Amino acid sequence: MPTITDTAAWTRLTAHRDELSTITIADLFAADPGRGERLSWEVSGLWLDLSRQRINPETIQLFAALTDAAQLAQRRDDMFSGKSVNSTEGRPALHTALRDLSGLTPDLFRSVARNHRESMLAFAEDVRIGKARGSTGRVFQDVVNIGIGGSQIGPMAVTTALMGSDEPQRIHYVANIDAADWITTRDHLDPETTLFLVASKTFFTQETMANARAAKKWLVDTLGEEAITKQFAALSSNTLAAKAFGINPKRIFSFPDWVGGRFSLWSAIGLSIAIAIGRKEFSAFLEGAHEMDKHFAAAPFERNLPVLLGLTDIWNRNLLNLPARAVLPYSERLKGLNPYIQQLEMESNGKGVTATGDPVKGRSASIVFGMTGTNGQHTFHQLLHQGPAVAAIEFIGVAKARHDYVGNHHMLLANMLGQAEAFALGTGADVSIHHACPGNRPNTLIVLKSLDAHTLGMLMALYEHKVFVEGTVFNINSFDQYGVEFGKALAVPLIEAFSSGDGTSPISAAALAKLRAWS
Ligand code: F6P
Repeated sequence: MPTITDTAAWTRLTAHRDELSTITIADLFAADPGRGERLSWEVSGLWLDLSRQRINPETIQLFAALTDAAQLAQRRDDMFSGKSVNSTEGRPALHTALRDLSGLTPDLFRSVARNHRESMLAFAEDVRIGKARGSTGRVFQDVVNIGIGGSQIGPMAVTTALMGSDEPQRIHYVANIDAADWITTRDHLDPETTLFLVASKTFFTQETMANARAAKKWLVDTLGEEAITKQFAALSSNTLAAKAFGINPKRIFSFPDWVGGRFSLWSAIGLSIAIAIGRKEFSAFLEGAHEMDKHFAAAPFERNLPVLLGLTDIWNRNLLNLPARAVLPYSERLKGLNPYIQQLEMESNGKGVTATGDPVKGRSASIVFGMTGTNGQHTFHQLLHQGPAVAAIEFIGVAKARHDYVGNHHMLLANMLGQAEAFALGTGADVSIHHACPGNRPNTLIVLKSLDAHTLGMLMALYEHKVFVEGTVFNINSFDQYGVEFGKALAVPLIEAFSSGDGTSPISAAALAKLRAWS
């Protein structure tokens, strides 16, 4: 397949960029005050507004032409049909089968997913109602998910967003190899009423295994070996390693290797979510994702939300030369979205070669950063307003509050719209040079009508598919992550060197000596 930047569609898009180069967002609104309607789309309570982007309706048509050049429709159908789109690992990427309620994916995959799901959900309910108990017979009050990356970030984001204050258990997430993460959680736990979930697709990740061993020792030292059988569970594709660790085979909740780590929160990796919100809400979460799957699979590209969101990023990053994107959820409950989107986008598409081994031409992924609004307004928004134009901006808002502080909520939403307007329009000329904000800073608005399991499922699936769209346009395999394996491998001899004092490369020798002397 030709490199996308060598196609006629890309050339046309580049010419279009040049035609628009002197037209500001303010000009676009002045020329077409109704563009807010023309450049926004809704799918079941999720609204996408691109009117503050430096685009016009013709741009949308050129986006669609580019997706044709990238054979997106075929590649999307290949993914849904179970082809090995994860080409370097020779696997399908069928996270969509985990929530497939209508036959979008092959029956074989759906039935495997359903069996795994039923087993996981049954256990979650047993924990919630007190049928599953600790080794001394007490109900569980705390659940600790020990995992990192996709085995922590997605579940923590969903639990933070949806969990009520009256649920039967408290949920904790321990990820970092820095023992402070384990200790600060451990110090609030009662061994008799704690359930540990070792969440790891490979059951090999060094951080997770170190923390799992620490938790196991802590439990065994207080309650004896037999406590493991009732108070540990494993969420993994590697059932052999989980058994070898000593996990009760009845407490190993598996998922297939055709589910990628950062796409696995819908699988057994989501057990902490199911315990946090219960079967009914977890099912609604899956239904929301499935609704977005059906939309992505069927909607014409001119109004296909994952396509529009992905192509807008490609436009900003490659044609408007904005290598970064600030993701600003104006909802404190959505604070987990920032690491989730960072991993999803930068671990999936932050690559230098295409699936066929050719150099990637252009920027296949953005540098994603951000934090919840309004907090970000008091940290990095200054640069976004007056600094060099380096970042596009993406707001995520929730129209209906989950509380009765309506005044606060309107202030939150007013700040979000105020920031979006300021980035788009700037201050205009009648202010001092030091007060001037240039504006013309493109930004997207995503609004959920309400924050619930269904809309959150839609939103997170939207980002999964947006990542696939961008990866496909650059002919990247979005489902492997060899880059992160390299760094991990370099750590292994260095761990040994901390006790032996030698055996490292010259680049680390001085730092190792200093760290050893001071530690
Ligand atoms: O970050 C690298 C990575 O492999 C992620 O893709 C994955 O989600 C994470 O590490 C944890 O891997 P595992 O679930 O196998 O412990």
